[in-house]
Amino acid sequence: MIVNEGAVDQLAFLKTLAEKSDGGSLRGDYSKADAQYVVAQDWAAYTPEQHALWRKLYQRQARLVPGRACDEFIVSLAALNAADGIPDFERTSEALFKATGWRLVAVPGLVPDHTFFEHLSERRFPVTVWLREPQEFDYIVEPDVFHDFFGHVPLLFNPIIADHLQQYGKGGLKALHLGGLKNLARLYWYTIEFGLMQTDQGLRAYGAGILSSGGEIEYCLTSKTPHRIAFNGERIMRTLYKIDSYQETYFVIRDFQQLFDETAPDFAPIYARIKDADDYPANSLLAGEVNIDV
Ligand code: PHE
Ligand code: FE
Repeated sequence: MIVNEGAVDQLAFLKTLAEKSDGGSLRGDYSKADAQYVVAQDWAAYTPEQHALWRKLYQRQARLVPGRACDEFIVSLAALNAADGIPDFERTSEALFKATGWRLVAVPGLVPDHTFFEHLSERRFPVTVWLREPQEFDYIVEPDVFHDFFGHVPLLFNPIIADHLQQYGKGGLKALHLGGLKNLARLYWYTIEFGLMQTDQGLRAYGAGILSSGGEIEYCLTSKTPHRIAFNGERIMRTLYKIDSYQETYFVIRDFQQLFDETAPDFAPIYARIKDADDYPANSLLAGEVNIDV
């Protein structure tokens, strides 16, 4: 039997999705996606109700970011001018390209790992086109345009994160060959999605999963329940995570330069070293680790 690579990729993708999305099917329309899973955003097709829901989401979240999000996020968010409705990705891309050489591409939802890494490695950030329903105001399982845009796009204007994410994409393509995907995905999860930063003004969030969440943005900074541990790449790569609850552990960087510098070395020896090592539970505090007090 001749099986083309694309079909194999597609099968693996659907299997991953079954795990990621709980039900096995995704709500995005993948029928019009090209080989890179890119679609037209079709901005004109968003309804007034959808723009109104976006404004509500935006307003709730924009009120929460002062004093909770890192300065880099707050500054870029304001410059995005995205308060009035679901943004036109083309317009944002123009501004973003001038700032850091990145562009947004519209996608139907989650894309295969290989595709995701390829986009990042070429400084394209995939943004989901669809918006959640009103009854999903506080929580959705799959990332939608609000999470992707509000959570991720502001920091693409930061030159260090811009370079870091491109390196991450290249590292992802490499990890696929080295059996390091699981480990690298954890790094993304605990930094780009749920990372905290210790600043002179106090603890701040920079992870998109936090910054697009109405509840976790406060929880991650003030709850006594989760652990907060200084960033340690190899430790993170061995740490399990929860996708259906607030995080049990947050990892804390000093600044984006630290994140960039500490993820720059070749991960191949790390993947080899931890391949057969035990994973750490999401709520573990290891010997010698300090839980940062809040
Ligand atoms: N340095 C990593 C590697 O060699 C790639 C990487 C860069 C991963 C930045 C994450 C973030 O695989
Ligand atoms: Fe995300």
